[in-house]
Amino acid sequence: MTTEQQPRVQWLGRWGFVLAATGSAVGLGNIWKFPYMTGEYGGGAFVLVYLVCILAVGVPVMMTEIAFGRRGRGSPIDAVRRVVTESGRSSAWSILGWMAMLCGFMILSFYVVVAGWSFSYLWKMLSGGLNGSGVDDMVAIFVANNENPFNLGFWSTLVTLATMLIVGKGVQAGIEKSVSWMMPGMVVMLLILIGYGVFSGGFGEAWRFLFSFKTGSLSSEGMLAALGHAFFTLSLASGAILTYGSYLPVRSSIARTTFGVAIADTLVALMAGLAIFPVIFANGMSPEGGPGLLFMSLPLAFQAMPLGTLFGILFFVMLSMAALTSSISMVEATVSWLVDNKGITRRTAAWGTGIVLWLVSTLAMLSFNLGADWTLAGRHFFDWLDYLTSRWMMPLGGLGMVLLAGFVLKSESFREELGLAPYWHALWLFMVRYVSPLGILVIFVDALGIARL
Ligand code: PHE
Ligand code: NA
Repeated sequence: MTTEQQPRVQWLGRWGFVLAATGSAVGLGNIWKFPYMTGEYGGGAFVLVYLVCILAVGVPVMMTEIAFGRRGRGSPIDAVRRVVTESGRSSAWSILGWMAMLCGFMILSFYVVVAGWSFSYLWKMLSGGLNGSGVDDMVAIFVANNENPFNLGFWSTLVTLATMLIVGKGVQAGIEKSVSWMMPGMVVMLLILIGYGVFSGGFGEAWRFLFSFKTGSLSSEGMLAALGHAFFTLSLASGAILTYGSYLPVRSSIARTTFGVAIADTLVALMAGLAIFPVIFANGMSPEGGPGLLFMSLPLAFQAMPLGTLFGILFFVMLSMAALTSSISMVEATVSWLVDNKGITRRTAAWGTGIVLWLVSTLAMLSFNLGADWTLAGRHFFDWLDYLTSRWMMPLGGLGMVLLAGFVLKSESFREELGLAPYWHALWLFMVRYVSPLGILVIFVDALGIARL
């Protein structure tokens, strides 16, 4: 069924792909980024657009990407090239693979900084560095943690090293196993935090903030942010899911696994919102706290609740693990491309990529201290990486993929890969041909302001 003869490594257990893909999807995007973006864009309306984007764009794109990966059996560049040449189309389409690979790398360059925050807060929890701190202290602690480039650089370097160590070893088994206990653990921790919010006040306000979908309160800019976040949170258009899909056994159902991953990812994000916002409201903090929101709020809850230090430690352990199971998926595309095409070992590929990554991520890390003034059009380097990937590269890359699958390639390829009943296949085709591309285009064009000319 594949165009390549030699068999590719596959996931070990029956649940291997689901676990690894869930590990990739569930990460800082859910627990750090989703709540602070929801806060910044005003709550319910953002959440609603985000949910619609997950369903109308995220799910069809994810199915398409997994199908590309499994049929092409390779890194995004190779997989897309094989699938398009199989249909007799120009291999120039593999530009989509290049862009995805670059996008995953760029995301990782700022992701390791945020993961570094998580590790440093774990350390603060362990060493008692947060004890007795009030609302204002929490803000000051977050700022101070960023101010020293050696401190911040230490943690992001640690994350870079850990990521490359895992990727270099290619420990699929390790990923699968760690995700299988970490994910339920994370859910339990979030439930404990939500329970705390219910008893200590602020929960009702948080619920209304997240789920009262006041229409018309979201800017075009906010809509594009919600669309970009749907891509980010599902690890789409960045090489991760496509490359993981290339290890998927032929008999697994792409549709079923896609829904499983999307549902798990969405639930964790909503739970994170329900865990964080009660603390924000109960302490009179502003939901517009920006990227530090998680780190300035949850430690307050951990201090106030029984067994808080223990729960806090467990929480940051799991957040750090969740970050690692995502970060490894972002370089998998690059590393597997290097291994397949450059005749080098996985270990060499991982360390080579790691050195470049370290340089770029150090620049991103400096945005919070030495380089705070190095801005371009009001954004520093860290923000640029986030902005370019989420607002431009992922939506456009996703658009390219669905148009390619919907209009350009032979329909048998996808019929075979997806293996859906005829009416479900028709629905998928309708989504990738019309609903997803139009959704992306409308939001995109609107945000660029062209629609209002
Ligand atoms: N989906 C991950 C998260 O939510 C981030 C990610 C983006 C992972 C792109 C891989 C590729 O944290
Ligand atoms: Na996610």
